[in-house]
Amino acid sequence: MNAIVHDTGERHLIETASRVTPGGSFGNLPTELVIRKGSGGRVWDESGNSYVDFLLGSGPMFIGHGHPDVTSAVAAQVPLGTTFFGPNRFGVKLADAIIGAVACAEKLRFVCTGTEATMYALRAARAWRKRDRILKFEGGFHGMSDSVLMSWAPRHPGNFPQALPDSAGIPHTVHDDVLIAPFNDAETATSLIREHKDELGAVIVEPFQRVIPPVPGFLEALRKVTAECGIPLIFDEIVTGFRFAYGGAQEYYGVVPDLCALGKIMGGGFPLAAVAGRADIMAHFDSSAVPEEDFLPQLNTLAGNPVAAAAGLATLEVLRQPGTYERAFATGRELIARLSELLKRSRLPAHVIGEPVLFDVVFTDQPVKDYRSWIRSDAAQLRKFNQVLRQHGIFKSETKYYVSVAHTQADIDQATEAWSAAIDVLAAER
Ligand SMILES: Cc1ncc(COP(=O)(O)O)c(C=O)c1O
Repeated sequence: MNAIVHDTGERHLIETASRVTPGGSFGNLPTELVIRKGSGGRVWDESGNSYVDFLLGSGPMFIGHGHPDVTSAVAAQVPLGTTFFGPNRFGVKLADAIIGAVACAEKLRFVCTGTEATMYALRAARAWRKRDRILKFEGGFHGMSDSVLMSWAPRHPGNFPQALPDSAGIPHTVHDDVLIAPFNDAETATSLIREHKDELGAVIVEPFQRVIPPVPGFLEALRKVTAECGIPLIFDEIVTGFRFAYGGAQEYYGVVPDLCALGKIMGGGFPLAAVAGRADIMAHFDSSAVPEEDFLPQLNTLAGNPVAAAAGLATLEVLRQPGTYERAFATGRELIARLSELLKRSRLPAHVIGEPVLFDVVFTDQPVKDYRSWIRSDAAQLRKFNQVLRQHGIFKSETKYYVSVAHTQADIDQATEAWSAAIDVLAAER
C-alpha cells in the first residue's frame, strides 16, 4: 500500500486555503487535503489519491456518493430551475414521505441546516410551553446556535446543571437559560427535570450522543419524566434520522419524542433539514392556528428548494428498497468485528463503541457512557491512530466512522489492513 503524496496542484490549493480562510480551513476540517470527487464509498483528492470514505460528508452520503438515482433526479430538475421560494412538487412529496416515516412527525417545516432545525424545534417548544429554559446533555451537539453551543465540549466540566459556553460571542444572558445534565444518567436527569419543571420549555437530546449509545432505560426515563411534567422532548436526529432505521433513532430505540430535528441523509447531500413533530406544537408556525403573540414566523430563502428535495426524495426511495439497511448494518458489524479483534490481539487499552452504522475506537479500557468517561480516553492515541489511517487511504473524522450502504468488501479489507498498520505503529511506541 503506497503512502499518500500530494502533488503541486493540491499543495497550491492548500496554501491558498491557508491564505484566504481563518485557520486555513472551511471550519470543518483542517485543509490537509483537498477532495475532488466521490463515488460510492470512496473519495479522491486533487492528486488522485483514493480513500475509503468513512466521513461521508459528515454523514449525509449514507447511500454513497453519486448514487445514479439521486444524480438523475437532480440533473432532471436543474434545467427546470433550482429554487422558487414557493412550494414545489418534490418538497411537498418529501415532506409527505418524512411524515410517513418518522413516528413523532405529524407536521414538518423545511430549513437548510441542522443548526436551524434544532433552533426552531427549541423555539416551537418554548412557544408552546411558554417557558424559556432548556435542558440539554453534557457532550451533546445540536449545531451552532447560541443556546445549544453550551457544554458540548467543555475542557473543564463544571457542576451540573451549570452550562459552559463552547464559543466566544455567546451573550451571558443566554447561559442562565440552559441547564446541563449528564447523558445516560436517568436518575440525575429526572431529578433535574422535576426540580426545574416550572421553568423548562424543552429537553433536547441526541438519542445516540456522538458515538455513545443510550443505556437501556435512559431514553424511556426521559420520555416518562417529560411527559409527566408536560415538557416537550426533542430528539436531535440530524445524525440518526434515516440512518439507524428508516424511522430514525425513535424507531431503532423505540422511544417517540414530541419533536425532532432531521437533516443530513434526508437532503441527499444538499442543504436541507427539517423540524418535525406533534401537530399542536407545530401549529405555532401557522398564524391562523394560534393567537398572534404565539405565532412563530419561519422563513428561509432556500429551504425545501426543488433540487435538494428531489435529491432527498430519491435518497428515501433507495432507502425503502428491501435489504438496504441490512446491507449497511452487515458492513458495519463486520468492520466492528474486525477492528475489535485486532485491538484485542494487540492488547492496547482500546475498544469500539457505537452502533454498526456509526462507531469509533476509544483508547481506554474503561466503559464510555457519557462525556466525562469519553474525555478520559486517550485522545492523543486516537489522533495518532487516525493519522496513520489517513496515510493508508482511510478518510474519517477525528471521532466517527460513518458506514455507507455503498461500502464494499474491498473497502472493508482496506480498512482492516490500515487498522493493522496503525495498531502496529501504536504498539511499537508503547
Ligand atoms: C446531532 C447534530 N445536530 C445538529 C447538527 C448541526 O447540523 P448542521 O451542520 O447541518 O448545521 C449536527 C451536525 O453535525 C449534528 O451532528
